[in-house]
Amino acid sequence: MPWNPMYRSEARLDGKTVVITGANSGVGKETARDLGRRGARLILGVRSLERGEAALRELPVGAGGKPLLLQLDLASLESVRCFAAAVRQREPKVHLLINNAGVMACPRAETADGFELQLGTNHLGHFLLTHLLLDQLRAAAPARVINLSSLAHTRGQMHFDDLMLTKGYTKWKAYYQSKLANVLFTRELARRLAGSGVTTYAVHPGVVRTELWRHQGGWLRALLRPVVRSPEQGAQTTLYCALAPELETVSGRYYADCKETQPSRRAQSDEDAARLWAVSERLVGLPAATDPGTQ
Ligand SMILES: NC(=O)c1ccc[n+]([C@@H]2O[C@H](COP(=O)([O-])OP(=O)(O)OC[C@H]3O[C@@H](n4cnc5c(N)ncnc54)[C@H](OP(=O)(O)O)[C@@H]3O)[C@@H](O)[C@H]2O)c1
Repeated sequence: MPWNPMYRSEARLDGKTVVITGANSGVGKETARDLGRRGARLILGVRSLERGEAALRELPVGAGGKPLLLQLDLASLESVRCFAAAVRQREPKVHLLINNAGVMACPRAETADGFELQLGTNHLGHFLLTHLLLDQLRAAAPARVINLSSLAHTRGQMHFDDLMLTKGYTKWKAYYQSKLANVLFTRELARRLAGSGVTTYAVHPGVVRTELWRHQGGWLRALLRPVVRSPEQGAQTTLYCALAPELETVSGRYYADCKETQPSRRAQSDEDAARLWAVSERLVGLPAATDPGTQ
């Protein structure tokens, strides 16, 4: 039987601003639905405004008002900068940043900046976005950053000698690497933000029936059917990390099924976490040795 308890909490988010990427679909949309009901002011970063509008029609309007839709293509650093600037212009504080958007196991392609698409979208776009919203997160402390990873990270390794997988690309190798990058980023971000009141969490949502599986054959979906959960069920661990009061002083860890879980050995490497941070800074064009904890 698939795991399917729901995270129960009466927590309210009135007066709090929540930014969610990839909120027009799947886990992101259900996360938005729940947090909106709790009174949060929602800013939804969506690749297509048209698909965003369609999702918006399905979301209830809570005490935080109608969610704000803003265009965001994580596969373009320019788009990430424009989105972050639009958020910063409107919001002095961001209480919750949910780096949820993702692509999985697609044919090799590159982002606008020439990065392998899965690493570029799932990790580098969110890496830059998080940096650009750090002042707003710090101003809102206690604030949280949630990074959607996956159990798939356990099969991954960081190919530091060829991060863009120009040689020997396989669609799963690229996905595994990008999801491992999400856990390593969470680990290093927590270290750098220690004492700031901004905490961070990596999440595996479970195997969820969403558009993410669009590039996979019917046989794989059939194989996974017994363990698949609904998008609403898939949102529960994100909601736990967003709302649980007991996590306010915990940071940098990995969660599945609404509880802390041990990530892979490679995901616990402080050396790789620091190395990925340095390489990511260079790739997205941030000044070297930016250390949010010391700013
Ligand atoms: N579903 C699962 O079984 C599963 C398992 C483990 C982890 N996860 C993780 O959960 C997260 C949410 O995935 P999901 O299952 O809810 O999939 P989904 O329904 O496909 O949602 C993914 C969202 O990301 C957006 N997105 C993709 N590329 C983007 C880009 N370049 N810029 C901005 N947004 C982009 C998509 O927008 P469009 O609608 O425009 O494509 C969509 O809104 C992902 O990080 C995924 O890796 C999912």
